[in-house]
Amino acid sequence: MKNIIITVDGYSSCGKSTLARALAQELNYIFIDSGAMYRAITLYFLNNQIDIFDDHELEKALRNINLKFQYDPVSGSSHIHLNGVNVENEIRKMNVSNAVSKVAALEKVRDFAVEMQRKMGRSKGIVMDGRDIGTTVFPKAELKVFMTADKNIRVKRRYDELKQKTGYANLNDVIRNIENRDHLDTTRKISPLRQAEDAVVLDNSELNAEEQLAIVLQWAKEKING
Ligand code: DC
Repeated sequence: MKNIIITVDGYSSCGKSTLARALAQELNYIFIDSGAMYRAITLYFLNNQIDIFDDHELEKALRNINLKFQYDPVSGSSHIHLNGVNVENEIRKMNVSNAVSKVAALEKVRDFAVEMQRKMGRSKGIVMDGRDIGTTVFPKAELKVFMTADKNIRVKRRYDELKQKTGYANLNDVIRNIENRDHLDTTRKISPLRQAEDAVVLDNSELNAEEQLAIVLQWAKEKING
């Protein structure tokens, strides 16, 4: 059985991470949530009041950022650590969600994150979700999934996730945030969100977690065994 690279790209709150994590578990692959990396970088900038438009300050800040994914035995999944601290829950809060798309549009930030992501995929056997994974990070990935879902369903998912992870959520804030991020993520100059030509589309508006997993697992097995 050969190891492959699987990319899962799509709009905010389509359930990419949930699917990618479950798929990685089934295949015994590594799962990487690339959005968590952009969120952790944003958290560092917010906490340290970095002026992201000052190139010198930005470069210095990036040199001081260390990101690691570590297995969390309580939740059974991997959590992102920023300079040794588990920030998995903190990066989901609204202050980070509202700032992250602006940070993720910066060339220096993308170069920093993409280099780390490519290193993580060196030995293949990886499922990575994000916006530009199939187009920029791993353009030669064996399986590229592009996920879409109805906007109202995406809003409800992000609202539920936020409430569960941070204890508070406001529906109007969530709607505004998703609309803003869709706009910024698809219109930015560097690596905007778009479907790779060789990606397969999964619209999961009407699918539950098990149904989605069964479909993508079938696609993955065809590539792995083919
Ligand atoms: O998947 P997410 O919502 O946690 O991602 C947070 C933000 O990071 C999202 O608004 C866009 C950005 N992002 C990106 O630009 N490229 C990626 N590969 C992943 C996320």
